[in-house]
Amino acid sequence: AIKRKTAPDLRVRKNGEPIVMLTSYHAHTAALVDKHCDAILVGDSLGNVMHGFETTVPVTLDMMILQGCAVMRGSRQALVVVDMPFGSYEGSKEQAFQSAVRIMKETLCGAVKLEGGARMAETVAFLSERGIPVMGHIGLTPQSINTLGSFRAQGREETNWAPIENDARAIAEAGAFSIVIEAVAEPLARKITQSIAVPTIGIGASAACDGQILVLEDMLGLSPRSPKFVRRYGNLGPAIEEAIAGYARDVKSRAFPGPEHVYEMKKS
Ligand code: KIV
Ligand code: NA
Repeated sequence: AIKRKTAPDLRVRKNGEPIVMLTSYHAHTAALVDKHCDAILVGDSLGNVMHGFETTVPVTLDMMILQGCAVMRGSRQALVVVDMPFGSYEGSKEQAFQSAVRIMKETLCGAVKLEGGARMAETVAFLSERGIPVMGHIGLTPQSINTLGSFRAQGREETNWAPIENDARAIAEAGAFSIVIEAVAEPLARKITQSIAVPTIGIGASAACDGQILVLEDMLGLSPRSPKFVRRYGNLGPAIEEAIAGYARDVKSRAFPGPEHVYEMKKS
């Protein structure tokens, strides 16, 4: 049997070979991502991608667990990290523990991720000390859209650096095994990467980060819109539409199904 990567396996990649990460929410994409990535994030971006919500706020623990199970079934070697959704962990460290335990017991994933800096440090320590590897997430934290007001890059003025640096330090010192840095000015993401002991995973951050992550559907060109920080490695949207149009054409002209797709009578 192939041994799955663990949170400690990622933790030791600080200043090593860059950590390759993508999101996946379902079995068949997880199997493909698994072939080339160290870790798979079952992100709460599934709210946008799968369900068409405008934010991640409506995503529930049940939704995360259902898709976490699918990704675990579809993958073999990558560490699977499941996002804790809005409202499942901010109330108290005990609430966070209960939610994380549900995720870990029901999906058998190897780690959880939660958003927030210094304010979440106590919670990160509480979980980490109790057998739950935690990936942090700082900079732009989409679950806070309603207090932030908009999805904007953080730290683009040096006067705003200190709280973000403090967030990274607090989460790292609390025991997070790695930290996602999202939509943060490049020099700040670089500085944070150089100043904390755990690997940073960048998204809209810096090539200097210890790893990178993107939303799979964004990099495949399947999402109708995607942020500035996405490089499109595929153009699946038009490819899928072309296939669907071809099918529609063939159904209307009765070119599909062909003789090879239908069942003949058994020879008696
Ligand atoms: O939900 C998600 O996909 C994420 C990544 C963008 C880091 O949190
Ligand atoms: Na997320």
